[in-house]
Amino acid sequence: MTETSYLNDVRKPVDTANGLPNAHYVDQTVFEEERQSLLFSQWAGLAVAADVPEVGDAKPIDFLGMPLLLVRDRDEKVRVYQNICRHRGMILVEEPRKIEGAIRCPYHSWCYGLDGRLVSTPHVGGPGQNVHEAIDKKQLGLIEVRSHIWMDVVFVNIDGQAADFDDIHADLIKRWSEFDQPLYHGGADSYFSLDVKTNWKLAVENYCESYHLPWVHPGLNSYSRLEDHYNIELAGKYSGQGTYVYRQLRGVNEEVFPDFENLSEQWDEGAEYVAVYPNVLLGVQRDHTFAIILEPKSIDRTVEHIHLYYSQPKTDEGMRAKNAQLWKTVFEEDVFVVEGMQRGRNAVGFDGGRFSPVMDSPTHCFHDWCAERILEDRSAKQAAE
Ligand code: FES
Ligand SMILES: [Fe+2]
Repeated sequence: MTETSYLNDVRKPVDTANGLPNAHYVDQTVFEEERQSLLFSQWAGLAVAADVPEVGDAKPIDFLGMPLLLVRDRDEKVRVYQNICRHRGMILVEEPRKIEGAIRCPYHSWCYGLDGRLVSTPHVGGPGQNVHEAIDKKQLGLIEVRSHIWMDVVFVNIDGQAADFDDIHADLIKRWSEFDQPLYHGGADSYFSLDVKTNWKLAVENYCESYHLPWVHPGLNSYSRLEDHYNIELAGKYSGQGTYVYRQLRGVNEEVFPDFENLSEQWDEGAEYVAVYPNVLLGVQRDHTFAIILEPKSIDRTVEHIHLYYSQPKTDEGMRAKNAQLWKTVFEEDVFVVEGMQRGRNAVGFDGGRFSPVMDSPTHCFHDWCAERILEDRSAKQAAE
């Protein structure tokens, strides 16, 4: 029990709680445990629907060692399958590409429709015999992974056991219901990624709080000061921060991006930045939104995939490039702190640190969520033993 008692300290109120201790950042066993309890059993962000814009687009994604395949089927529905053949478990698709016709396994040519159905099994009953009574095609379709799209993010629940996404995130969906309208990905110039030497949780922890703005983001802080921000948190669900002084990007002729439709005045100068646990960071503003998918590559390496969205399918290219560059600068400014905190976790005996009861409470909210999930899983395992 001593093994888990420290997690009860993490779950204390913010003014007495400890942060998650070192093992959660440097111990491979804990990383694997968290893969199950914080990622595979939750609704984790995998990609964006804009990654497969057209019917037949297929993109293989290795998610924490799990080979997955993102496709857009003939009904334009985005689906996620395990990227393996039901015959001998061969990887089906190696590179992003357009599937014309069927998904053909490169090994023995079993073919699958975009809807996952196994459609042909050449010579399975011997030369020239493409059927065999023991091979029931209906039972051998691609294995579909439970998925849900919100704010264009493709969330997956790998173990299939989580409650419905809409139920878990009902509060956040309602909070941002004004943004429940078409979001148009800005295209190639509105995507960038950062390869960061940190555990994925530290990227969440840093994103949640505005405490670091004056020192890490002096540019932002020049117009958006500490006192212009507020904390956002709902225990067990999500946390982040908001600002009262969002300023639109202006072009040389004072042009701005078009607003999303019918927004209330809260958004005239308001903007919100929320971490949707476990690994998706979202931002909403009157004229654009963004989604960051944190892809955990290993215990101390995370790729941040950043996608920007607008209210219209066509926006000014130069403005889009400028906006992407602005955000890139901001997110790059965060790199040294998330990498520094990661290296800091190698200090023997560090206890997870102490939070500012006021400024760090959204970060603590995330730790509390992590600790609760891990404790639940550990006790379920114990009960099963
Ligand atoms: S492994 Fe796919 S057809 Fe044999
Ligand atoms: Fe930051």
